[in-house]
Amino acid sequence: MELEESDLLTTEVAGLRLRNPFVLASGILGNTASLLRRAEAAGAGAVTTKTILPEPTKGYENPVVVELPFGLINAMGLPNPGIDEFEIELREARSDLTIPIIASAGGGSPEEVAHVAGRLEDAGADAVEINASCPHVRRHGLEIGSSPELIEELVREVRGSVRVPLLVKLTPMVPDIASLARAAVRAGADGLTAINTVKAMYIDVEAMAPVLSNAVGGLSGPAIRPIAVRAVYEVSRFGDVIGTGGVETWRDAAEMLLAGARAVGIGTAVMTRGLRVFSEIGEGLTSYLRKKGLTLPELVGRGRRDC
Ligand SMILES: Cc1cc2nc3c(=O)[nH]c(=O)nc-3n(C[C@H](O)[C@H](O)[C@H](O)COP(=O)(O)O)c2cc1C
Repeated sequence: MELEESDLLTTEVAGLRLRNPFVLASGILGNTASLLRRAEAAGAGAVTTKTILPEPTKGYENPVVVELPFGLINAMGLPNPGIDEFEIELREARSDLTIPIIASAGGGSPEEVAHVAGRLEDAGADAVEINASCPHVRRHGLEIGSSPELIEELVREVRGSVRVPLLVKLTPMVPDIASLARAAVRAGADGLTAINTVKAMYIDVEAMAPVLSNAVGGLSGPAIRPIAVRAVYEVSRFGDVIGTGGVETWRDAAEMLLAGARAVGIGTAVMTRGLRVFSEIGEGLTSYLRKKGLTLPELVGRGRRDC
């Protein structure tokens, strides 16, 4: 069933107006215009593309995903069409979809990320999300994403090449995520996406070896939700947040909003349960808001002790 359009769920995040707070997270169904269109039809309030790199890349050999009872570990290696090919896909998506498209930009240096970001904007992205937090690809994440100084340099560079709203996707694998958020906003970010996956490993005890071809991957899904909620709680003082990590039900979405998120990213649940999660979570959250007699903006941050 399609999500019922309702003013009750309308939200604004980093200058984007969304019909509902549910954002398809990066890396899930974000490779083609037709998949993004399916997410819109299923009820998403916005979609995020796969992280796009300057050049095409193959990614790692299989296996690249392990499914566990409490989430997934993936090490895809950022398989990628590259910006030349993806631009065509993004133009098509922009002419088809009515909801905002957030384009995720990556690269091996601030200049490369800025170049990709500028071209994504030219191809119609409504916002750019900098992926500074991929835990399993060298040069595309954590080396930059765990240092406030390097985040600041990266965001300044990208800010110089895009006018649309700029989000920065943060890693939780640092002692002080607030310092990353502060640095990103100081350098010109309009919002934050928290969190990316958490570095993890799964060993098959029969084979006596790690299952993923890259051995190490990123954990997502229900296992990381409490980490994501804590991260959202800590960073939403500094700017608008898309709270992402382990959201599967309307209760999980409500928890993110109560922690201070203005929108809620959904990734793994789309893979494990299908696109119907958007309408299911939407219906549940609508009933909850009605019961509480609140609008969505009134819910945002209400679970914070410092409010
Ligand atoms: C298979 C897979 C691929 C992903 N690819 C990307 C990506 O390309 N760029 C990115 O910023 N995050 C990527 N992520 C991270 C998600 O966008 C999200 O931050 C994370 O999975 C936590 O949310 P979830 O528990 O709802 O999946 C990926 C996650 C998964 C499971």
